[in-house]
Amino acid sequence: MRGLEARVAMVTGGARGIGAACVRRLAEEGCRLVIVDIDLDAAQALANELGDSAIAVRADVASETDVSASMDQAVKRFGGVDLFHLNAGVGGDYTPISEAETEDYDRVMAIDLRGVFFGLRAATRHLRDRGVPGAIVTTSSVGGLVGGEWIAAYHAAKHGVIGLTKSAAMHGGRFGIRANAVPSEIASAVAFLLSDDASYITGTVMVIDGGTMADHPRARALASAHAAQAA
Ligand SMILES: NC(=O)c1ccc[n+]([C@@H]2O[C@H](COP(=O)([O-])OP(=O)(O)OC[C@H]3O[C@@H](n4cnc5c(N)ncnc54)[C@H](O)[C@@H]3O)[C@@H](O)[C@H]2O)c1
Repeated sequence: MRGLEARVAMVTGGARGIGAACVRRLAEEGCRLVIVDIDLDAAQALANELGDSAIAVRADVASETDVSASMDQAVKRFGGVDLFHLNAGVGGDYTPISEAETEDYDRVMAIDLRGVFFGLRAATRHLRDRGVPGAIVTTSSVGGLVGGEWIAAYHAAKHGVIGLTKSAAMHGGRFGIRANAVPSEIASAVAFLLSDDASYITGTVMVIDGGTMADHPRARALASAHAAQAA
């Protein structure tokens, strides 16, 4: 993909899962990587695998101080960051809203929404001040497009991630910064959105969900009823 070779990409929650898959994919595309995670050992293990082109940074995305310190470490090592994948997130307790604990709500919102706010703010400030174009991808979820009986805080945070991303895209356009959200887990989509091949795509949500959002349960029930009638 165009525009990824030799660029510096920061991936939060990059030590495992979706973040680690994106780190590996971006490394294959020639990016240098800043792997940010609360679990430094896991992040370091992945950075060691990638060699000199990657560093591991311990940061809690819910901490403004940590986010700022992680930017400083990236600048110290690579001189700046061009691409950001703000991916770190947690699920939360599986309870209906009537049983939800305030502590769990606050924890999920702090990591999944406030953490993305800190990341988007730091990324746009950094790119604006350097005067270079850049790209940002946030990880939302299908849960950011629909509600659900369980994990209301997660749904609220992931809906919020999309709103924050669209707003960052509108402001970022002034400085050549694109921002898009992905509701699922495909590393190639993240690499594409960060690349120059996606230069006209900003403020969008790319849904990669195996057709989940296209499949309305009522439509399915109607189709079964018609099939039963026809039989
Ligand atoms: N797994 C799914 O099916 C799925 C679907 C849709 C969206 N998502 C979203 O994708 C993202 C990654 O999910 P995953 O399944 O790879 O999770 P995961 O638990 O496998 O990995 C998350 C990583 O984030 C790190 N992390 C957690 N809290 C952190 C914090 N406060 N600061 C910094 N790092 C932190 C963890 O140490 C871990 O390395 C999340 O935002 C999640 O909500 C996941």
